[in-house]
Amino acid sequence: MTDDKFTTGKFITFEGGEGVGKSTQVKKLVELLINKGINNVRTREPGGSAGAEEIRALLVKGGVDKWHPMTEALLHNASRAEHLSSTVFPALKAGKWVICDRYADSTLAYQGYGQGIAVDTLLALHNVSTGDFWPDLTIILNGNELSRAVEREEEISDQNTKEDRYERMGADFHAKLQNSFLDIAQKNPNRCAVVSAAGTIDEVAQRVWQLVAGKFDLK
Ligand code: TMP
Repeated sequence: MTDDKFTTGKFITFEGGEGVGKSTQVKKLVELLINKGINNVRTREPGGSAGAEEIRALLVKGGVDKWHPMTEALLHNASRAEHLSSTVFPALKAGKWVICDRYADSTLAYQGYGQGIAVDTLLALHNVSTGDFWPDLTIILNGNELSRAVEREEEISDQNTKEDRYERMGADFHAKLQNSFLDIAQKNPNRCAVVSAAGTIDEVAQRVWQLVAGKFDLK
């Protein structure tokens, strides 16, 4: 998708299961970077640009069976291509850091481990959609997950407005996700780091900061 080199900006992604506190930690890291004078952009996937947010709505709302798993993988990659070209690449080119709530590891975990698409197929799709663009650092928050998965019979009537389609996918699906991110971290030790989500918000934020400061040599 791009062969540009981003020399100053860094691309950092957060991953983890539902309710592990990712979004809070994304905000915390953004605040700490601002305090250190590092200009940055907070964003998310699916979504993160106008077009990608339209695709997000197709994915996170509505009936659990509304897409074939391959359609779902394609939609996540379509959202990603939009997000990279409209938001992430321009920011990195401007020397900003980009802190993103979920990225391609979520596709490997949810559409791969969870929905059964072969990981090699998803990696090929990632290659085509993004030019094999991966983060400088992926922080995998581990533990303390809320069991947000709800049984189908409990499906709520406002499924067309609430963004909880994946949470409604049921216990079997969520069981398959259980160790997916740890497995991904083990297979990508140079890019991924696992951070314990145990303790207070500030304790976790401190662990994240130590990791980021060490990796990028920040004072
Ligand atoms: P969020 O609630 O963290 O914003 O993410 C929305 C949902 O989308 C979450 O349940 C995980 C799911 N998801 C995928 O299934 N595949 C993906 O590639 C991404 C980025 C998210």
